[in-house]
Amino acid sequence: MLSKKMEERLNEQVRNEWISEYYYLAMMAWCFNNDYDGFGMWFLKQADEERAHGMKLLRYLNEAGGSIRIPAVAPPGTELQGVDHMFELTWEHERKVTAMIHEIADLARQEKDYATDNFLQWFIKEQVEEENTVRNIVAQLRRIQGAPAGLFMLESKLAARQ
Ligand SMILES: [Fe+2]
Ligand SMILES: [Fe+2]
Repeated sequence: MLSKKMEERLNEQVRNEWISEYYYLAMMAWCFNNDYDGFGMWFLKQADEERAHGMKLLRYLNEAGGSIRIPAVAPPGTELQGVDHMFELTWEHERKVTAMIHEIADLARQEKDYATDNFLQWFIKEQVEEENTVRNIVAQLRRIQGAPAGLFMLESKLAARQ
């Protein structure tokens, strides 16, 4: 059985995952509006994943006897200034999300909530992957330094993301 505090915190994390979803949808929109359709497809898939993360949390909350609610969600109002900028923002954002997940994991351990602790391991692992993927893209963009051919190659690769 979840504590009230944990129930609150998990519902809050559903909201955070869906804020991430809308953040990446905003980035997708920027890409499509500026004819970077390949990068746009990458952000669309990223957004889909965040939607799924929120659903995974909702499912668990329900299974564990918590009360679920559907949050109001809006993307952060950050001005997007181009492909390089958006991937830097994505990297920064994913590191923030990792810190959030770790905070919830801390709470689970404090409360001796073994079920939630176990559930959160998937998210902890997922964040390692997410950070690694985005860090790698940021590194490539820094190396490319806006060179059109490099950008085109990277975009083609990212467009093929499954
Ligand atoms: Fe997520
Ligand atoms: Fe993420």
